[in-house]
Amino acid sequence: MGTGQMIVDDRDAGIFRVNRLSMTSNEVLQLERKRIFDKCWLYLGHESELAGPGEYRRRVIADRPLIFIRGNDGEYRAFYNTCTHRGALICRADQGTAKVFQCFYHAWTFDNKGALIGVPDEAGYGSGFEREEMGLKPVERLAQYRGFYFVAFDPLIEDLVDYLAGAADYLDLVVDQSEEGMRIIPGTNKYAIKANWKLLAENSIDGYHGLPTHETYWQYIADLGVDMSGAMMGGGARSLGNGHAVIQSPAPYGRPIAVWHPLFGEDMKPEIESVRNRIWARHGQERGRMMTNEIRNLLIFPNLIINDVMAITVRQFWPLAPDNMEVTAWELAPKDETAKRLATRLDSFLTFLGPGGFATPDDVEALESCQSGFNADAVAWSDISRGMQRDPKTTDELQMRAFWRRWSSLLQGVPHEDWEATEQKREPEQVASTDGRPGKELTGVSS
Ligand code: FES
Ligand SMILES: [Fe+2]
Repeated sequence: MGTGQMIVDDRDAGIFRVNRLSMTSNEVLQLERKRIFDKCWLYLGHESELAGPGEYRRRVIADRPLIFIRGNDGEYRAFYNTCTHRGALICRADQGTAKVFQCFYHAWTFDNKGALIGVPDEAGYGSGFEREEMGLKPVERLAQYRGFYFVAFDPLIEDLVDYLAGAADYLDLVVDQSEEGMRIIPGTNKYAIKANWKLLAENSIDGYHGLPTHETYWQYIADLGVDMSGAMMGGGARSLGNGHAVIQSPAPYGRPIAVWHPLFGEDMKPEIESVRNRIWARHGQERGRMMTNEIRNLLIFPNLIINDVMAITVRQFWPLAPDNMEVTAWELAPKDETAKRLATRLDSFLTFLGPGGFATPDDVEALESCQSGFNADAVAWSDISRGMQRDPKTTDELQMRAFWRRWSSLLQGVPHEDWEATEQKREPEQVASTDGRPGKELTGVSS
């Protein structure tokens, strides 16, 4: 089985191309399941979702049914949602609180720490049957960073904080906005997009599309009297290692955390200013400004996005087929936010990023349009070269190359190098020194 060359990465010429087969081939998707989703840390949920003992969320992560739960001892755990008897799902609700789970098939019963505590007519089993061995199976790895829980199916994967690399600093910039920590607001947006999952990874950190695709929103904001001349300017794009990347830019359209905006109403001004001043006092002017006055769209490889924009959206997406994905989005907010400011935030969340908002339908349309365009089957490569030979700007594509290089390394099973770092600091000698590297033109996803 071979899928051919997927990436062209020619830094001398400033050319980066992605084979469109990567978006349409079922063979590629099967490889992604084995070599990416089975080999990466994957977001499971936020600590705030499980407020107390017994609270659980049912999640499907990389096609595996899981339960994310706190036991009566308060510990966070992740189990495979399958009965150790003959397989039935033991948890059949998306969320709730439970002391025990009784399998509906033959009534084996497990406690919320995963132990098998009840087997009808246990005497029917022989002497080799050990109840202690038949508890729910925990996922191989579970770890959290600043309240964000991740799982991994590879027991030998590097520690989460090493995996997150530079992305950890950007999670800090989000979490530190609150004195008491962050929480996921109950409720989710769920929708499907008829497009390859990687198109949403690209789109979520694509500053280039912002102005043309979301013109309706900019016009709406401009009509409110906001000076939009700085939108999508300044800031920049960064690769954060291991395929993670971020774009940042100033936020002329307001942030409930710190930047007042006519949409929020005159009466919100003092509160927003005092929140901002407290953040600056805690973190200093420089870091404080970055937290409050800049937006950031953060991609944590492979499929977690944190859009810290006019609200904070946590978004995860899974391939259903090469040309179909399922998206779930949650809203993250400071625990200490007043009801009024939270209402403002939720309004911003739905106005821009909700499934019926100003932005998401535009993005869905764009992604589905790309996928339809791939069906032309006449243009083999997509171009992602923008900004390859200059300092990366928010509207460049370095951050997408970071994603694709990591993707390609994993698919090929070759070590990943943070090539974007050399791209960012390119000098003639450094460019020359890359010539002999394997994968200058990355060849061959094959197995
Ligand atoms: S499958 Fe669960 S008790 Fe039989
Ligand atoms: Fe967009």
